[in-house]
Formats: sequence, C-alpha cells, structure tokens
Amino acid sequence: QVDGRVDSVLALMTLEEKIGQLTLFTSDYDVTGPTIRENYKDDIKAGKVGAIFNAFGADYTRKLQEIAVKETRLHIPLLFGYDVIHGHRTIFPIPLGESCSWDLNVMQQSARIAAEEASAEGLHWTFAPMCDIARDPRWGRMAEGAGEDTYLGSRIAEARVKGFQGEGIGALNSVLACVKHFAAYGAVQAGRDYHTTDMSDRVLREVYLPPYKAAIDAGAATVMTSFNELDGIPATGNKYLMTDILRKEWNFTGFVVTDYTSIMELLPHGIAEDTASAAALALEAGVDMDMQAGFYNDALEKLVKEGKLKEGLIDEAVRRILRKKFELGLFDDPYRYSNVEREKSTVMKKEFLDAARDGARKSIVLLKNEKQVLPLSKSIKRIAVIGPLADARREMIGSWSAAGDWTKAVTLLEGIKAAVTPSTQVLYARGCNINDDTTTYFSQAIQTAKQADVVVLAVGEAALMTGEAASRTALDLPGVQQKLVEEIQKTGKPVVVVLSNGRPLTINWINDNIPAIVETWFLGTQAGHAIADVLFGDYNPSGKLTVTFPRSVGQVPIYYSMKNTGRPMDANNKYTSKYLDESNEPLYPFGYGLSYTTFTYGDISLSSPQITQQDELKVSCKVTNTGKRAGEEVVQLYIHDLVGSVTRPVKELKNFQKIMLQPGESKEITFTLTQHDLSFYRKDMSFGVEPGKFEVYIGGDSRDLKKGIFILQ
Ligand code: IFM
Repeated sequence: QVDGRVDSVLALMTLEEKIGQLTLFTSDYDVTGPTIRENYKDDIKAGKVGAIFNAFGADYTRKLQEIAVKETRLHIPLLFGYDVIHGHRTIFPIPLGESCSWDLNVMQQSARIAAEEASAEGLHWTFAPMCDIARDPRWGRMAEGAGEDTYLGSRIAEARVKGFQGEGIGALNSVLACVKHFAAYGAVQAGRDYHTTDMSDRVLREVYLPPYKAAIDAGAATVMTSFNELDGIPATGNKYLMTDILRKEWNFTGFVVTDYTSIMELLPHGIAEDTASAAALALEAGVDMDMQAGFYNDALEKLVKEGKLKEGLIDEAVRRILRKKFELGLFDDPYRYSNVEREKSTVMKKEFLDAARDGARKSIVLLKNEKQVLPLSKSIKRIAVIGPLADARREMIGSWSAAGDWTKAVTLLEGIKAAVTPSTQVLYARGCNINDDTTTYFSQAIQTAKQADVVVLAVGEAALMTGEAASRTALDLPGVQQKLVEEIQKTGKPVVVVLSNGRPLTINWINDNIPAIVETWFLGTQAGHAIADVLFGDYNPSGKLTVTFPRSVGQVPIYYSMKNTGRPMDANNKYTSKYLDESNEPLYPFGYGLSYTTFTYGDISLSSPQITQQDELKVSCKVTNTGKRAGEEVVQLYIHDLVGSVTRPVKELKNFQKIMLQPGESKEITFTLTQHDLSFYRKDMSFGVEPGKFEVYIGGDSRDLKKGIFILQ
C-alpha cells in the first residue's frame, strides 16, 4: 500500500523536485560541520530540499515544515534529522561509557527515552547509533561507539536501534535510526579523524561489519556513509559497500545518506574531478541522500538530460526516501511530531532523569580500590573535592550532547554535597584548568587537601577533546593535571581519583600511586549524583571496560582479541614479539572492572568434551559472591580456536550475562555455544566452522579466566 502511494507521488514530480527530495541541508540552529547554506529556506521553498537537520523544537520544526507544505508545488513534507546520540534533552552517558554497563536494557531504554524526547520536539530521525568498532584511543570518536569488541558492539547496536525505533516507524514516540558510519571509520590510520582506512576484506567482514549488520537486522531504517576511504574508494562513492554488501548481501531496504559534505569531499579525496562526476559516483554507488554538499542539486539534472545518468536511479532513491516519509505518517499529518503540548509534558520528565542517573551509575568502572578507600562514609568530617572537572557543569554532558542543556547538569561537587550528612564539610578547589599550563591555583588546592580527611580529585579531558575532529597523539592527562595529582598525593591524604574522559588514558603513575580510581567517562545530566552514588556506596559499581587501557600510546592499537603471532612474547628470548621499553600487557584489560564485593569463579564444566557440527555446547561455571555486599557481575565467555585455515584471535568474546549476587550467594551460569559462535571467514572466505580443538574461557574480565577445552569434530 505504501509503495502504491509512493509511486503516485513520484508520478507527479518533475526531475528537479525528485532531486530536491535527495537533498538534506542543515538549518542555522546548530552547526555540526564545516559549511552552512545561508539560503536554505529559499531552497525549501523552491522544492529543492527533502530533509533538514540541526533544527529541533516543536515550534521551529513546524515553521520550517509549513514552508515545505504550504509553499512548494507538491506540498511534500520535510524529514527532520538530528544527532540524538546519547539522549536528546535528558543526556545519558556518552555511548562508550554506557557500553561499560554491559546492560542492554539500560542502553535500549536510554535510546527509547531519547526518541521520546526527540520525537516530541518535531524530530523524525536520529543520526545514531554509531556502530564503528574503535581500537585506537587517539581517535576522538571512540567516545561515540561501543568500544573495541565486535560481538558486544553488535549486541549494543541492536539494542540501540530497538530503543530508537521503539514500537516501529510511525509510532509517535519513535524516530528512524541511522547506522553510521558505514564503513570501518573506526579504523582510520593513526587515529587521525577523517584519515584513510585500509584493511583486508577478511578483517572488514569479521571485525568491522558485524555491528552495522546487527543494527540493520534489528530494523534500522537508514545508513550513513563514512568519511574515510576503504581500499582506495571513499565510502561515499563505494558501490561495493553501499550496493553489493548493504543492499544485495544484507537486503537493506531503507535509504543511505552521506555524512556532512561527503560528496563534495570526493574531490579532495582525488576520486572525482568535478561536481558532476562526484554526484554521479555517489548516486551510482547507491547513495540516496546528499547531506549538505548540494552536489545532487547542482549536477544530477544536467547529467540526466545529457544522457549520462539514468533517471531510474534517481527514482529509486526518491522512492526509498518517500517510503520513510509515508511510514512516518508525514503525508497524513506533516506536523504530527511538532506538538508543543507533548514537548512540554515529555522533555526532561522526572522518570527520564531517574533513568539517566541509573544508567550513569551503571556505566562507572571502578579501576582500583586499595585498602577499601571506597566507599566513603557519608558522615566523614571534611571532604575536599578538587580538580578542574569537580565543578565543571559544561563538561558533564560530554561531546555530541547536541540539544542537551548543560546548565541543568549536576556536577560532581553538587552530587557530593547532596549525598553527605549535614555535618560534613565539603571543601572545594579547582586546582588547575583542564588543558593549559597554569599552576597558579596549585597552592590553594594543596591547602584545601591538607584540611580534609579524604580528597576526591576530579581530572580528565574536556568534553570537546573527545568526539569528532578531536584526535590526540598523547593519552596523558592534558595540561598540568598530572602535576596537580602528584602534588595532592604528596599531602599524604587518602585520594580518590575520579576520571572524566572519552577514551582510555595512560594513567600508569596514578595507578601506581593513588589508592582508588573511578572511571566515570562523561555521564550526562545526572553525572554528579551518579558518581556520588558510587563514591558513597549507594550503588555498588558493576561497569566493565569495553576498551583496553594501554600503558603507553606506543602500544596502540592494543585490544584483547589479538593474534598470537609466530613468536609470541617470551621475556627470556629477545627474538619474540615485544617492546624494548614497555610490556605487551595493557594497564587494564577489556572486560575489567572492580566491585565493592568480590566474586570467585569455579571450574568450567562442559556438556560434552566433544561435539559434532550439528551440536550446541553448554558451558557452565559457578560464580560466588565472596564479599560482604550484594553486587552485580558481568560474567564473560570467550573462545579460542587453536588451529584454523586462517589464524584466529587468542580470545573472542562470544557471550556474557550480567548477574546480581547477594553476599555468599552462588549461581551456576550456563552459556550455549552455537555453531555460529564457532564460525569465521575461512581461507576461501566462506563463513563456517572448522573441526579441531577449542579453548573456552569464563571469567570476570578478558585476562582473569577459567579455561576448558573441547573438540569440534
Ligand atoms: O551525524 C554526524 C556525523 O556523525 C558526523 N558529521 C556530521 C553529521 C551530522 O551532524
């Protein structure tokens, strides 16, 4: 039925109007890229725009919609898109942080709430989830994804799509998801944003593509191309990606949009010599919508008229876009999402703020807790809260918080003040700025520390040192923060370092010298309360790292699922794979995170030591809470296929369960390993299993594991 309606509209359209539907321009409300088209409202009027991004709010979207509906010949409604990445108004932890909760319900729920708020503000479409696997923390956009692992990234991608799209496209409180950035943007060389990506097809398919595919299988309506090239072809002109894989192999039926000015960027990439060839390359590759370049508008009509491009390709792209507008119900009521009343009653509701606090505390990772410095007592006499991130409201909501109102964010200082008893004195000193060399405030911070019984020292990155165009060559604390930490440590007071950052940092000195370290990422609107919940033990931390923390930037890329090499590291043999000046080991491995309680793992038991290629294998292990507090544990299952027709990683995550255990309680945890879990791209690139010996591991992180062995016949 929708297809019939789409065709009936298409039949009325001029070529120019069709091309207009393929065009997405930014409004001047917000800017997320290098160019802005001043006269975009005239373009809307002229029927040259199908969609607008960076505009939100029931009132404002209604005004823009009125231009399209009332002033264009065919009255075709606009589609409104925006970067609703980790919340819309109520901001949740940055995606990397939230992934550390390993809690798929939490992630689905935060996307759901984001969609409720966004759709109440006139938005139809979010440019999320980002599904790029990222293994190089120099790349600032690591903050926007789910970390380094393919399996976990795929599960999270699914959960986020389900959250955004809710009961389905057309439900008033849902938005279209956009799987980005297709593909392999996370592997840009040297972690430099927008840089080149180059990898084998095997690595592409095995490591990088599965999360995008999982999102599409979960029903994601749209896909965004990435800025990078892959095997010499920029993604935006890459037919192998946009047509062969996406549409033919994966049966994707939604539409593909470029990233910001990506068609224009085909020129500096050196793959097209002018506007016309860039536009033709993108359209023929399978790209339906041009974000912000305006190249489709400028070139496609002439190309068709000169017989250089088939109009049918344009028709197909228009169909895909109109279909979504019909499914959203925009042809029935173009203003259905722009409802001021709904906006008022939805945005930043109490239940959303509660969910944001809960998601935030679940995203915190306790990296170190010696001598049980944590949790702190709420009736401690004097607590010093020091550091440039202690009272940094703007930073709390992190990068890509778009419409998030940072003025409503709760700082760490406020969170602590709200948590302690009235008799506790909370002292504060900023100590230094985030990223300059001013040491003027050190002495005041040292004096403040000396007066206190305990110091909470909040250091890290500025929000905008992470995210897009925020690559770094060093992973140390920026500015003079490291010096500040050293000065405060010299006071001899117990110190808790609270980190806010969008990527792993190299914090070896802190790890060696500070008794307690809490990784909080950028936790969003309720950050301060969530951190206080963990510091004072109202919530027992349960987050686990989804990205490896290197000891040195020279180890990058470092990730748990590496290959063994022909000369695995042997400290006693020079001619093995290692560094002269640093160990091969990370500072903290993937999957790592402490709790205020302790968990022990029993031996692994298998349903059989041998399985056939028709069987599943049950793998079990008893997990016990051996501490004094109730706590949650992320029980992780890894495999290692010892010999294959191509080499296999030393460990691959294949499943996990997040469980709650009371003190003294044990649970038998059972996983089912399927043939799919044991499959890989074999020498001939077919996907399947190979008989042989496997190791299977269960544990609380990727390093500390119990081992079992089985044979696949
Ligand atoms: O969605 C983003 C993308 O991730 C990076 N470039 C800009 C787009 C739109 O704001």
